[in-house]
Amino acid sequence: MIKQKQNKGFTSKFGFLMATVGSAVGLGNLWSFPYRVGEGGGAAFVFIYIIMVCLVGVIAMIGEFVIGKRSGVNVIDTFGGISKWSKWLGYLGVIVPFLILCYYQVIGGWSIKYMIDYIGGIGVASGAGNVGGMFGTFTQSVDMPVVYLFVFAFVVAIIVLFGVNKGIEKASKILMPALFVCLIIVVIKSLTLPNASEGLLFLFKPDFSKVKGSTILSALGQVFFSMSLGMGINVAYGSYMKDSMNIGKSSVLIGVMDTVIAMLAGMAIFPAVFSFGLEPTAGPGLLFVVLAEVFASMGPIVGRIFGAIFFMLVILAAVTSSIALLEVPVQFIVERFHINRKLASMCVAGIVFGIGAFIAMSFGVKAFQVEGVDLLTLFDSITNKIILPITAASTCLLVGYKVKPKNLMNDLGADTKNKIIIYKIWGFLIRYVTPIGILCVLGIGIYEVFSGQAGFTTIEGKLAIILSAIVLVVFSIIANVIANYLYDKKQKNSLQL
Ligand code: TRP
Repeated sequence: MIKQKQNKGFTSKFGFLMATVGSAVGLGNLWSFPYRVGEGGGAAFVFIYIIMVCLVGVIAMIGEFVIGKRSGVNVIDTFGGISKWSKWLGYLGVIVPFLILCYYQVIGGWSIKYMIDYIGGIGVASGAGNVGGMFGTFTQSVDMPVVYLFVFAFVVAIIVLFGVNKGIEKASKILMPALFVCLIIVVIKSLTLPNASEGLLFLFKPDFSKVKGSTILSALGQVFFSMSLGMGINVAYGSYMKDSMNIGKSSVLIGVMDTVIAMLAGMAIFPAVFSFGLEPTAGPGLLFVVLAEVFASMGPIVGRIFGAIFFMLVILAAVTSSIALLEVPVQFIVERFHINRKLASMCVAGIVFGIGAFIAMSFGVKAFQVEGVDLLTLFDSITNKIILPITAASTCLLVGYKVKPKNLMNDLGADTKNKIIIYKIWGFLIRYVTPIGILCVLGIGIYEVFSGQAGFTTIEGKLAIILSAIVLVVFSIIANVIANYLYDKKQKNSLQL
């Protein structure tokens, strides 16, 4: 397999970090982290999340960078290069971002609606006390969420169509720091609200009696989602890394930055939740409902400006992540079927929009719900809670056992003296601790889905999640078999590991 580093490689470490952070930081940090903290009982969830980032997130991220750095092609061929029978992981690595994108863009669309409302002044005007109602009315309507979804999806498709190269890297370098500054200002405002300390206690004082198996699974799924693990994007970025870059250090840094931004989002939201007497368990609407209260409390003009700027940055964070999510299936289709890039982007984006439209409508239209649960929650559960643990654990095992220790040692600490120690610790974690941990959590989570502790109370609802996940895994294994038969009869394990 040919290394493709010459043209596409990141030129600076800063550029590489900002691009990976740009893909990692998105709605996962700003939208789903806070609402999962709320549902998971606060600080105990945060504590488990941070442990998972260290033991699973960073370890698996290193593994993905290692194989990416050694391959240089799309996800499926990377996994195919490791072994004839690991291609199914690559197929899932393409299908999952596709499915995530379908609902991710729906939330991107909601953010556009909020930004426009703030610019027009409606956002603050409908302020205090009424925002929950506004969010409900909006998401449950049939037409507008689809229109905003279309606008969002269209922008993303256009960017991918014209190629992602320099624009995104340059834009991320400015936008990511801007997001950070804006977030800090909102945090400061939130912390000065009356009763803010209750929110901080909720976020930092753990009550472990609230922890259930499903809380741990939710934290684990959130780590995968937020660090963009288990879906090939880090494999792709790894392939653009310069040889001299230290994979270990970069992964730790990305994990830290991603977690810091998620925590800041929590610190912006929870003091306000308690100050305004809202419910921390509000679910997917939390970000939209609570921050609207904060902006309303800033007064009509300041609130309006901050609301507009803040949601604009949310949109931008979501756009940079969506581009990466769309790029994964598009890159595969272009390379495998030799279809023109523009056509491939348009087709995939069109299908994603079609499915997304049903998801967007499922909040208001009962016919599109599964056992009374909206499709967004369903898609989210299937991908994050079931498929991602499977792909991530398998990738860890594959990297842990297939890559030669000598190579690993070099990749891990290109310029450190403690290579051997780092390698020993990491090798132990990636071979035993991380995969076994992931599988245990997955087992407990599935058990809880069946025992009715995970939202879906009817047997049809539970079966919908589990069966969809099984179908996806079986589908990818069949694809592996067919690909072996059709294309790759003579293919050798070509990746130099
Ligand atoms: N990590 C992104 C976020 O926090 C979402 C995401 C998941 C993603 N998988 C990805 C982004 C793959 C880019 C590529 O919002």
